[in-house]
Amino acid sequence: MLVSVIGAGTMGSGIALVCARKGHQVKLMDTNQSVLEKAQSFLQKILNRDVEKGRISESEKEKIYQSILPTQSMEQLADCEIVIEAVPERLDLKKKIFQDLSNICSEKALLLSNTSSISITEIAAGCKGEERILGLHFFNPAPVMPLVEVIRGMKSSEENVQKVVQFAKDLGKVPVTCNDSPGFIVNRIARPYYNESLNILGSRIATPKQIDEIMTKAGGFRMGPFALQDLIGIDINFATTESVYTNFFHEGRFKPSRIQQRMVQAGRLGRKTGGGFYDYSK
Ligand SMILES: NC(=O)c1ccc[n+]([C@@H]2O[C@H](COP(=O)([O-])OP(=O)(O)OC[C@H]3O[C@@H](n4cnc5c(N)ncnc54)[C@H](O)[C@@H]3O)[C@@H](O)[C@H]2O)c1
Repeated sequence: MLVSVIGAGTMGSGIALVCARKGHQVKLMDTNQSVLEKAQSFLQKILNRDVEKGRISESEKEKIYQSILPTQSMEQLADCEIVIEAVPERLDLKKKIFQDLSNICSEKALLLSNTSSISITEIAAGCKGEERILGLHFFNPAPVMPLVEVIRGMKSSEENVQKVVQFAKDLGKVPVTCNDSPGFIVNRIARPYYNESLNILGSRIATPKQIDEIMTKAGGFRMGPFALQDLIGIDINFATTESVYTNFFHEGRFKPSRIQQRMVQAGRLGRKTGGGFYDYSK
C-alpha cells in the first residue's frame, strides 16, 4: 500500500518504520528539512541494529530504508491510500492539514490522525468526506508498543473503522476501538497518573528518581512517570493534559501542573532537547 506519514518527529518516524517493515511504500512528510534528516539517521540506526542482531539481512535493510521517501511537499501525498498525521498536538494545525488533505487526496483515501487527545470529530468537521477521517493512535515508541487505539469520529463510517482495524492488525498491532472523547481511553486514564506524580514532586514528598524507582522496581512499570514524560516530550504531554482539561470543561482531576508548564517555558522538553526531569546531555 502507499502510505504517507505527516510529521517526522518522535512518532512520525517510528510509524513510518512500522509501515515500511510490513512492506508498505511510505512518504514521510515534514515541513522541516533538518527533522527529515534526523529521521533518516534514526531509521538507519534502528535498521543497522536489526542487521547486527541478525533480525534482517543487509538487503532487507536497504529495501526497508529505500521504501521510506522523505518529502517536504504535501502535494506529493496525492496518490496515497492511507495518510497518518503526526504533527504537534494543536487543533488549528491538524484542522488545516486535514482540510488540505481532503482536497488533495482521492475520496477513497483513509485520513488518520495520531492525536493523543484532540476530538476526531472536530478535526474532521468541514472536510470533504468526513466518513474517512478517523484516529489511529500509536504509543511511544511506535515500533515497540503493540497497542493502537482506533477512534471513531461522529461521522466516521463503520466500514472505514473496520478497514483501519485490519490495517493495524496487518501492521502487527493490537487495535482497540473507541468512540471519540477527550483523551480517548489511555490518555484519559494517564492524565491523573501524571498529575498525581507531579503533585507528589511539587509537595516535595519525593524526587522524580524516587517516584520512578517505586513505580518500576515495585510497581512493575517499564518506566516511571518522569522518565516516560521525558521520552514522550514534556511539551506534547502538557498539550495533551491541557486539551483533555479544556474539553472536560475544566474538571479539577485533569488540571495541568505548573511544574510541567515551567519545564515547557524553559525549553526542557525531555530527551529531544537533551534534558527534562533527567539530564541526557551525555
Ligand atoms: N510523543 C509521544 O509520546 C506521543 C505518543 C502518542 C501520540 N502522540 C501524538 O503524535 C503527534 C506528534 O507528536 P510527536 O511527539 O511526534 O511530536 P514532535 O514534535 O516530535 O514531531 C512533530 C513534527 O511535526 C512537524 N510539523 C509541524 N507542522 C507541520 C506541518 N504543517 N506539516 C508537516 N509537518 C509538520 C514538525 O516539524 C515535527 O517534526 C501529536 O499529536 C502527539 O500528541 C505523541
